Amino acid sequence: MLVLGIETSCDETSAAVVQMDDHGRKILSNIVASQVETHRLYGGVVPEIASRAHVEAISSITAQALEASGHSLKDIGLVGVTALPGLIGALLVGVNFAKSLAYANDIPLVGVNHIRAHAAAAYLAYPELEPPALALVVSGGHSAIYEIKTPVDFQEIGSTRDDAAGEAFDKIGRLLGLPYPAGAAFDRLAYEGDPEAVPLPSPAIHGQNLDFSFSGLKTAAISYLHTCQQRGVPPDRAGLAASFTKTVTEAFTQKIEAALRLTGHKKMIVAGGVAANSHLRQRLETLCRAMQVALYIPPLSLCGDNAAMVAAQAYYEYRAGRRDDTDLNASATA
Ligand code: KG4
Ligand code: ZN
Repeated sequence: MLVLGIETSCDETSAAVVQMDDHGRKILSNIVASQVETHRLYGGVVPEIASRAHVEAISSITAQALEASGHSLKDIGLVGVTALPGLIGALLVGVNFAKSLAYANDIPLVGVNHIRAHAAAAYLAYPELEPPALALVVSGGHSAIYEIKTPVDFQEIGSTRDDAAGEAFDKIGRLLGLPYPAGAAFDRLAYEGDPEAVPLPSPAIHGQNLDFSFSGLKTAAISYLHTCQQRGVPPDRAGLAASFTKTVTEAFTQKIEAALRLTGHKKMIVAGGVAANSHLRQRLETLCRAMQVALYIPPLSLCGDNAAMVAAQAYYEYRAGRRDDTDLNASATA
């Protein structure tokens, strides 16, 4: 079955054609038009600007995805679109576009949860991968640990109680003078510093839980920068980036180790924009090797927001019997 995926939940307009069936999974096209240059001026995503940019881009991005796949709409067996969570105005652009396209061409439609779609990127990157698996989804908007029993059966067993990991990287990155989104530049800067330079509190919540809190860590990093400013000494930027990265990486590693022991899973999926972090990838590779757990981390191109992962998840939802209609709505929260 050929699935057309549409993604507009934040600041990437994306469309993709993915071939999915019980024997194979293949990305035929995955076009991502990023708006980051537009939002960089403001240091973060401006929702109203994001919605307008999606409206301008969505038709041509979809046409490009179809053309690059070598297929036309008449070959498409399913339209999948991110319906939640995300910026409501941005989501509505994709949902309404997908509804119109599906209705006008008499193609089934499925609205997709963006967090589930991030995890589904792993099925595309590793065509042999089948759940059950444990999953860490870490992005600009969410940080949570799930038990995935089937591709449509997710149980959240741990999550952030406040900010998402990506948001924390972006906020501290901004104070370090890194351009939005700060993730990739932060990753590189961390190699130049001493990870013990700035003592920071762990975002792993103490005790028998699998939860995180990034607010204390963020406050501590901000206080360090303020103290340097008040004393008139230059901050150790690379040291802060390295210490911050190590603190976050260790917290995820600690909770994932606990989650793997608790659940006994032997497959671990790591997905979402922050899964692109090279320090986190290396640390989790070491952990999983030591615990004899198979680790599935999509390549960088499938970690950030893209429509191929949405198409993949839509296929599983459809296979499980889900159908949406012209009354499909978007929701800012999951
Ligand atoms: O999944 P994503 O593209 O969008 C959301 O669904 O939120 O994630 C974007 C986030 C941004 O906060 C970005 O700074 C972060 O992923 N990110 C990284 C890295 N690359 C992207 N964070 C840490 N290290 C990276 N290498
Ligand atoms: Zn995302």
